[in-house]
Amino acid sequence: MSEIIAIANQKGGVGKTTTAVNLAASLAVEEKKVLLIDIDPQANATTGLGFARTDYEYNIYHVLIGRKKMSDIILETTIETLDLVPANIGLVGLEKDFYDSGIKNKELVLKEKLAEVKEKYDYIIIDSPPALGPITINSLSAANSVIIPIQCEFYALEGVAQLLNTIKLIKKTINPKLKIKGFLPTMYSAQNNLSKNVLYDLEQHFSSKLFASESDTNEETGDGRYIVIPRNVKLAESPSFGKPILLYDIKSSGSIAYQNLAQSILAAS
Ligand SMILES: Nc1ncnc2c1ncn2[C@@H]1O[C@H](COP(=O)(O)OP(=O)(O)O)[C@@H](O)[C@H]1O
Ligand SMILES: [Mg+2]
Repeated sequence: MSEIIAIANQKGGVGKTTTAVNLAASLAVEEKKVLLIDIDPQANATTGLGFARTDYEYNIYHVLIGRKKMSDIILETTIETLDLVPANIGLVGLEKDFYDSGIKNKELVLKEKLAEVKEKYDYIIIDSPPALGPITINSLSAANSVIIPIQCEFYALEGVAQLLNTIKLIKKTINPKLKIKGFLPTMYSAQNNLSKNVLYDLEQHFSSKLFASESDTNEETGDGRYIVIPRNVKLAESPSFGKPILLYDIKSSGSIAYQNLAQSILAAS
């Protein structure tokens, strides 16, 4: 059975794509068959894995509007067990296309299109765009669970209530089994009180939804109790080399943190 995990937060720049790419890669090197779905018009997960616009003719947009099958557009990556469904800026037209075509159940299109390939994978990770529009709704409707990256900055929890309301509504109407897999503090700096405050706030409100840390995290980069993703320049650099962090600098604190997250998810499955 495959597990479908959406990475979502309607705020931009909080670490969704970094989490999607590096969690997918970290699960794949554990010999799990993983499909990473880029469903953000910005296509950062696609470029972050080294694909240029000219490397692929069709993308998720063509699947969602019914022009292509999911299996037609899947790309193989440099990690043998990691495949990618690429995105493209053309996705910005999706809402209008759905509207023009008068399609029914437009929230469930991704889920329906995934059915064809789903059983080939152990994990399907979906990188959502920074909005609570139809694309993110599709992503949450197709998923078994959602990981919410929270950037450890001022206003970190701003918008979370709205996201949780959306999740609640989707649970009530289209996807009753959707679970919150966890909140993932990102860009955490142990030296920075702001980071500690954000983690404290998360602990107050959602302690059961933080990922417990099993390994001895380096106190300089981590928290020790919970898995947090440290602010690590290697994580920011690796997409420009078209690589997930573990092919760029496997020993970096960012790489270790995402491997720990993958271990935690594997242990829970
Ligand atoms: N833990 C981190 N340490 C340092 N830079 C990071 C980290 N996580 C993300 N970044 C950088 O922050 C920016 C936003 O991250 P990204 O994953 O693209 O967010 P989102 O997908 O939510 O918009 C990117 O430039 C990314 O490389
Ligand atoms: Mg992104």
